Amino acid sequence: MNSKSKTVTYQDYLKIPELLRLQQPLSKEAGELAHDEVLFIITHQVYELWFKQILHELDSVLKLFQKESINERHMGIIVSRFERIIEIQKILIAQVAVLETMSPADFLEFRDLLAPASGFQSIQFRLLEIKMGLIKERRILFERQTFSSELRDEERAILEETEKDLSLFDGVNRWLERTPFLDFDGFSFWDSYKEALEENLDKQKQSLDSGHLSAEERERMEKNYESTRKNIEAIMDEEKHNEMVETGQRELSYRSLQAALLIFLYRDQPVLYLPYRLLTGLIDMDEYLTSWRYRHALMAHRMIGRKTGTGGSSGYSYLRATAERHKVFSDFTNLTTFFLPRSKLPTLPDDIQKALGFYYSQSKGDL
Ligand code: HEM
Repeated sequence: MNSKSKTVTYQDYLKIPELLRLQQPLSKEAGELAHDEVLFIITHQVYELWFKQILHELDSVLKLFQKESINERHMGIIVSRFERIIEIQKILIAQVAVLETMSPADFLEFRDLLAPASGFQSIQFRLLEIKMGLIKERRILFERQTFSSELRDEERAILEETEKDLSLFDGVNRWLERTPFLDFDGFSFWDSYKEALEENLDKQKQSLDSGHLSAEERERMEKNYESTRKNIEAIMDEEKHNEMVETGQRELSYRSLQAALLIFLYRDQPVLYLPYRLLTGLIDMDEYLTSWRYRHALMAHRMIGRKTGTGGSSGYSYLRATAERHKVFSDFTNLTTFFLPRSKLPTLPDDIQKALGFYYSQSKGDL
């Protein structure tokens, strides 16, 4: 216990004097302070602090995914940590507007002083991407390089080590593969679902053939039918799926994809509710990160127009492209392509529902 003379103060506990010494504008050192450089530094530092908090949450979740099994209590922890990350992400997006109160001309007062430093060199941002599951092969190159050419050797080494660890995507994929209730006591979710999908497709075809449609309507409906048929074929055929994985068009394994579909479609079953929120959390995090990327790209555009970035990329074009291409959980978002209306879903046998409850309450938590 602390003695009275050692009572902790606000300043000491939070290291406020140290924190407030960390804003050192280069323009001041160069002779004349550019007023907005203080805002520029503080904004970036605040971002880095929030990145640190997100990584703290993510690391604790990854630890849980390294376990052999994840029980219901762990599931609740994971979901609540995702919710925290998502709330922070909302702040990260809102914060862009504060920096945009700086005019492009005021930015030019000090921009040259900080080159070639760039957001490219934010190690925490890279850790965040890698830990979420963004793989090297998917990264957009600039001048035929990746951002890592901009880093110090020791920083590159940290990122390369992290790339070898289990990512959130891998952890979720592994967890979904273990789902025990896809084939259960003579009931195959996948066979029943495939049947229901085919039935639905047949009905679409029948209404197309029997309806009195105008030429335009027929053409539109035929297109719709063809694209649904192709999509459905691409999910029913394991070989096709594996080809898509090999060519980088999909990342989830075939079994995980089935498990994820089951969770999304039967989320009203109490035992699937937390797994459902977990998967939705992944989609939310991906979407908020994408929104931040777009928001940041727009800010860069208004600040520097079509100039190249201080880190050497094409600037706005590069950043906008990352928003589309650097998504991690698109396989989950894309699953809605294969959804059926609730009324057409195969009914899950009662014993599966009971067994699910049993499975999740079996393993003991150890956090
Ligand atoms: C005046 C405001 C800003 C401008 C004009 C700007 C511009 C840019 C540009 C052009 C790039 C591409 C890399 C390069 O060639 O340098 C970039 C990357 C980046 N910036 Fe900013 N930025 C601004 C503010 C911020 C803020 C506040 C953050 C918060 C941490 C940030 C984080 C990043 C990150 C993480 C990257 C790497 C993105 C990636 O490679 O996917 N930037 N920025």
